[in-house]
Amino acid sequence: MDIAGSTALVTGANRGIGRRFVEQLLERGAEKVYAAVRRPESVGDLDPRITPLYLDLLDEKSISEAAEAARDVTLLVNNAGISTGARLLGDGLDMVRQDLETHLFGTLRVIRAFAPALAANGGGAIVNVLSVLSWVATPEGSGSYSVAKAAEWGMTNGVRVELAGQKILVQGVHLAAADTDMMAGRDVPKADPADVARAALDGVQAGALEVLVDDASRFVKSALAGDPARMYSRSSGD
Ligand SMILES: NC(=O)c1ccc[n+]([C@@H]2O[C@H](COP(=O)([O-])OP(=O)(O)OC[C@H]3O[C@@H](n4cnc5c(N)ncnc54)[C@H](OP(=O)(O)O)[C@@H]3O)[C@@H](O)[C@H]2O)c1
Repeated sequence: MDIAGSTALVTGANRGIGRRFVEQLLERGAEKVYAAVRRPESVGDLDPRITPLYLDLLDEKSISEAAEAARDVTLLVNNAGISTGARLLGDGLDMVRQDLETHLFGTLRVIRAFAPALAANGGGAIVNVLSVLSWVATPEGSGSYSVAKAAEWGMTNGVRVELAGQKILVQGVHLAAADTDMMAGRDVPKADPADVARAALDGVQAGALEVLVDDASRFVKSALAGDPARMYSRSSGD
């Protein structure tokens, strides 16, 4: 897909990886970028090609109103997300539900609302920002986040199949860590969020179904084909 001349919508566009997506899209010649956010005033300095839109993944009405206002979208970037940090056994199920409501149901709501417009516009692309934790649970990570990202990965594949034939590329982007508010205070190697956006958009231009941003994602993906002990030996005390 050609990003030059496209009309894109990025969720969670006010900070972190989402903000970098907006910058990269403009650099690559997108004609218009809807910055879909919970607080439109947080979008900041406005390039005339940016249109802020109110969209909350947990508010179905805001999503249908955004889809009504942005019927010209050809590239949808589902980036918005949270990390409650909840453990599956030690924390309340309400927190686990919150992760799932946001990453799985929230993102799916957005895709359901925008897919008809993409199809009507002759096709395009949907980018879902997933995680290495879609594929592995770690003692340092949150089990709840991992479940939500695994579900979002499955949803990404399912939507891809359902949209086959409508010329819509559905891409999953996996990364371990990027230097954003979500990872503040975590002492691990972090990618520049601009590089995450760059890799994903390179993938869109190349028609890639999947983008693995870092070595950790590449390692975990390859390890899935082997004995799980390769990834979980640490957790079992070996
Ligand atoms: N950073 C990492 O290391 C990392 C690793 C793997 C995957 N990811 C994924 O990358 C994506 C972006 O993460 P990030 O690191 O850029 O996070 P971030 O800096 O914490 O930004 C999160 C963004 O999502 C928005 N958001 C949260 N809940 C929302 C909701 N209910 N409705 C609409 N917008 C909502 C936030 O809006 P407000 O400003 O209104 O809060 C913010 O714009 C997420 O899907 C995350 O799971 C991140």
